[in-house]
Amino acid sequence: MKQDFPLFTHNPDLVYLDYANTAPKPQTVIQAVCDYYTHYSGNVHRANHDIGSRADHAYETARHRIATYFGVQQNEVVFQKNTTEALNLVAQSFVGKLIEPGDKILLTGLEHHANLVSWQLLAARTGAELVFSQVDEDGCFDEQHWLKLLISGVRFAAFTAVSNVTGERFPIEQMLAAARGLGVPTLIDGAQLTPHERVDFDKLGADFLVFSGHKIYGPTGIGVLIGRYELLDQMTPWIGGGDMIDTVHLSGSTFQEPPLRFEAGTPPIASVIGLGAAIDYLEQHLTPEQHELESTMMQGVLDALNSIEGIHFLGDPDRDARLASFVIEGVHSADLGAYLNEKNVAVRVGKMCAHPLLERCGVDSAVRASIGLCTDQSDIDQLATAITKAVQRLR
Ligand SMILES: Cc1ncc(COP(=O)(O)O)c(C=O)c1O
Repeated sequence: MKQDFPLFTHNPDLVYLDYANTAPKPQTVIQAVCDYYTHYSGNVHRANHDIGSRADHAYETARHRIATYFGVQQNEVVFQKNTTEALNLVAQSFVGKLIEPGDKILLTGLEHHANLVSWQLLAARTGAELVFSQVDEDGCFDEQHWLKLLISGVRFAAFTAVSNVTGERFPIEQMLAAARGLGVPTLIDGAQLTPHERVDFDKLGADFLVFSGHKIYGPTGIGVLIGRYELLDQMTPWIGGGDMIDTVHLSGSTFQEPPLRFEAGTPPIASVIGLGAAIDYLEQHLTPEQHELESTMMQGVLDALNSIEGIHFLGDPDRDARLASFVIEGVHSADLGAYLNEKNVAVRVGKMCAHPLLERCGVDSAVRASIGLCTDQSDIDQLATAITKAVQRLR
């Protein structure tokens, strides 16, 4: 699969184990972006010439591909900049309208800052209370505690499907069923789920799903909010400007229907078109065989790491995850990351935008290795060699 990705052709020695941060881009995605700029770089929804019509067509075709992939209608796919922006849109425009002072919003203690700070901002504005399911002593999600909080009465529940620190996949199907049973609207942060699993939005049963293009082999600058249309239609715009309006007078304006209501200004046209190509790539390659292969590769990563004396994982590494975060006794994570980088092994080091979770796990900084479509045995072998040498050198 690496042959599809120019990143690896141009960096033949690269051992890329940072997919959870951002994924490499296949040639088809790069070509789609390049074709737009080379052949038809018009603006969308506002040009009355052929170049603009071609841009319009490519932009809305990408939306159609995404809608089909997730099993939703085209008008349920809203383009935003990334997961973070999509989350903030739901917080401000949907939950912001529902919430009364003192109402509870249910989160978990494992969230990425995107699914935490956005709610803190809303709580500060509205007087809502944020409640968090606890993280157990192993750094794992406590489903029973989450359910207890849910039935105690909450106005909204937002949770990640897969932790970007521990790799744990939450039992989202059961959680969504429980929330639905109580009439609690829900949002799934799919940033770490969508690169590894195809999601059927209707079957999943969430009200909103958000994810980032750059983590699913697409361009940066594009993320998606998928929402049930009747809910999107209740939402007021968060950002005003061109393209999202119906009528404008000095005395006030009326707005387009979703999704355009939430896409003010010139959108990242090339990135949307590139995302359409990334979806095609995923559709072809995210097969059951690939799922098996990723499980095998991840087991290889864990075996390599488990051979290191004094390694401690955040969360339970024995789950069928696609990433592992760890610390090694006597070796600072930043030093380890720097050494691995010298050996062309790219991993993530730091607090991984999840400060409260790292604090709960009692660590200041960790190293994360994450895998994806192109990970192969040679990546694992090189990781094993480099990390063994690093520990000998640094301890
Ligand atoms: C679980 C999770 N949620 C949200 C985000 C934020 O994604 P973005 O920076 O693309 O908005 C990330 C990024 O790592 C993530 O892992």
